[in-house]
Amino acid sequence: MVTEQALNDAVKTVIVPGVERSLDDLNLIQKITIREDGVEIALANAALGVEVQEYLTDSLRAALAALKIKTVTVTYHEVKPIDLNHITHVVAVMSGKGGVGKSSVSAMLAVALNRAGKSTGILDADITGSSMPKMFGLKNRPLGSENGILPVASASGISIISMNLMLPEQESAVIWRAPLLTKAIQQFWGEVLWGKLDYLIIDLPPGTADAPLTVMQSIPIQGVIIVSTPQSLVEMIVKKAVNMAQKMQKPILGIVENMSYFYVPELKKKYELFGKSKGAALAKDTGVPLLAILPIEPDLARLADEGKIELYEAPSVKLLGEAVIQAVEKKPETLK
Ligand SMILES: Nc1ncnc2c1ncn2[C@@H]1O[C@H](COP(=O)(O)OP(=O)(O)OP(=O)(O)O)[C@@H](O)[C@H]1O
Ligand SMILES: [Mg+2]
Repeated sequence: MVTEQALNDAVKTVIVPGVERSLDDLNLIQKITIREDGVEIALANAALGVEVQEYLTDSLRAALAALKIKTVTVTYHEVKPIDLNHITHVVAVMSGKGGVGKSSVSAMLAVALNRAGKSTGILDADITGSSMPKMFGLKNRPLGSENGILPVASASGISIISMNLMLPEQESAVIWRAPLLTKAIQQFWGEVLWGKLDYLIIDLPPGTADAPLTVMQSIPIQGVIIVSTPQSLVEMIVKKAVNMAQKMQKPILGIVENMSYFYVPELKKKYELFGKSKGAALAKDTGVPLLAILPIEPDLARLADEGKIELYEAPSVKLLGEAVIQAVEKKPETLK
């Protein structure tokens, strides 16, 4: 006779295709009932299309056949993704200015958190200029059903949703007015089955307009990370972003100064190509901690272009992850 534990383990670890995470990770298991004549498994149907349901039923039957359970009934019950999502930390990455490296920082941060053993997702809130699928080399379209969408798994298992994944071709343009963009971001939050996640990183488009406003108003973000480069123009715009987050009463977890310097190992010399680092001064001025100073790394840009950002390894990435974990998870008694 098989133990209840072995049965539960076998059910929990069945993998949902596309998102490549387990039934348990996605919070889909409602009830497992052991009867005299077999086992009945009740699953939530959130974001599971008919084909995925059939696949899961077959996988469950195969997994339990290995335990010598022959009769397995799988039932699917109407539940919305939002009711299954348990995301511990939601962090938005923003900047007043374009091209400073928000998406690169979002991606590196997600990679660092994932490497640190945190289950991580990325919500690409840059609807008209999505860059996540390209950086992670994602090709598959998201699976879904009438009541939801499954994120797509990256090579290292980060769950990603992005408008580019849904377009007929990556190059297709999204020409939408603000209300539609707002709606898309809200759907990415409420209608995507994220399941249980330690971290969801939200990559915002540049500026302080509709998208950041939508994210701050309709998603319970824990805090905001602001990306800047050492240019003075950027500094002013960063202050705008800081002001916006403060007005919206969203804590700013910190500033990341990107493209701060270029290091030439042969000469053991740092070149501050965009001017002297302003991260520390900016942090002091705004009262926001400086989380990380990232150098210009040609390897990063190359790997991002090749869709292999997950292969990028650098001490700065690890430090960025650690700084964010520290800022986000610090225990109440250590909070100042
Ligand atoms: N630290 C870095 N070293 C080298 N290249 C970088 C670095 N950070 C970003 N880049 C490169 O700079 C370009 C812009 O970066 P990215 O797309 O991350 O910026 P962004 O702020 O998200 O832009 P947008 O405002 O368009 O969303 C990309 O080609 C990226 O690969
Ligand atoms: Mg971007």
